[in-house]
Amino acid sequence: MESVRLSDTLTMDRIIHGHWRLMDWKMTKEELLKFVEEVVDLGVTTVDTADIYGGFSCEEAFGDALKLKKGLREKLTIVTKCGIVFPCENRPQFKSHHYDNSRKHILKSAERSLKNFGTDYLDLLLIHRPSPFMDPAEVSEAFRELYQSGKVRNFGVSNYNPSQFELLSSYVDYPLVTNQVEISPLNLSVFQDGTMDSTMMRGIYPMAWSPLAGGDIFTGTSEKVKNVRDTLLSIGEKYEETRLDTLTYAFLLSHPAKILPIVGSGKIDRIRNAMDALKIRFTAEEWLTVYKASIGKNLP
Ligand SMILES: NC(=O)c1ccc[n+]([C@@H]2O[C@H](COP(=O)([O-])OP(=O)(O)OC[C@H]3O[C@@H](n4cnc5c(N)ncnc54)[C@H](OP(=O)(O)O)[C@@H]3O)[C@@H](O)[C@H]2O)c1
Repeated sequence: MESVRLSDTLTMDRIIHGHWRLMDWKMTKEELLKFVEEVVDLGVTTVDTADIYGGFSCEEAFGDALKLKKGLREKLTIVTKCGIVFPCENRPQFKSHHYDNSRKHILKSAERSLKNFGTDYLDLLLIHRPSPFMDPAEVSEAFRELYQSGKVRNFGVSNYNPSQFELLSSYVDYPLVTNQVEISPLNLSVFQDGTMDSTMMRGIYPMAWSPLAGGDIFTGTSEKVKNVRDTLLSIGEKYEETRLDTLTYAFLLSHPAKILPIVGSGKIDRIRNAMDALKIRFTAEEWLTVYKASIGKNLP
């Protein structure tokens, strides 16, 4: 598996497995263990999750599977997130949906993630969303404590715009190693709002969430989706590739920013389809043809 080095202690696969929809997969812990092992056997060892996924239940479900197999955790790179709170069955103490990026909350959330996974370190912790009320000094303090205790080895952010990224970067002791943002052929805003420029300028690799636009690339019925789909499939003819998901991942993987797509599927064949995309590299002309189909206009 192709990989990228984000720091001395962090290497991530070009293809990452995402656990947002884990509870929808309706697997027992034994089934989930088998699935995780199959994914690892394919070469995908980086897992993306978050404290809030599944109403604060996915981390624990994943951890319950991990605990069944000694040594499996060490084979994995675990990425999780914190900072969003909302009231639900598992967190009745939260009274409203909001963001909590306080030192206290970050520390508590990281501790709980460690417990959920049954591990003593997280490879990467992300602040899930930028908050207009964030105190970067407090985030920095929390990161320092987590790093110095060995509980978190690397830090990053998700859904940050370039100035939010710069603000937090200027406070923290450790470089933010990634910005996890939404990127798919149906959502290319990061190429227009400076986000991609800022990651490339800093030499960091962006993680792409919802690379298949949450499945819309297959099921969407708008003119835009049809155009993008037809364009991808027509480019696929040259590569003798008819799988739309493989072509979508190839579009993302071909970009010079070294985007790391997060595959959100609970089906092993669909993870294989993503892996096969590593064999295809779109030319600039092909990439921009998809870009034009998505933005619905010609280049100036
Ligand atoms: N940082 C953030 O704010 C944020 C936000 C959202 C997500 N994420 C991360 O990004 C990961 C990926 O997001 P995502 O799950 O939205 O990714 P996605 O790959 O865009 O969408 C996955 C969905 O597409 C469906 N799908 C895949 N192939 C399909 C096909 N051939 N036909 C129809 N449907 C198909 C999957 O169903 P099957 O399971 O049946 O294959 C699944 O429901 C998440 O797991 C999470 O780790 C992060």
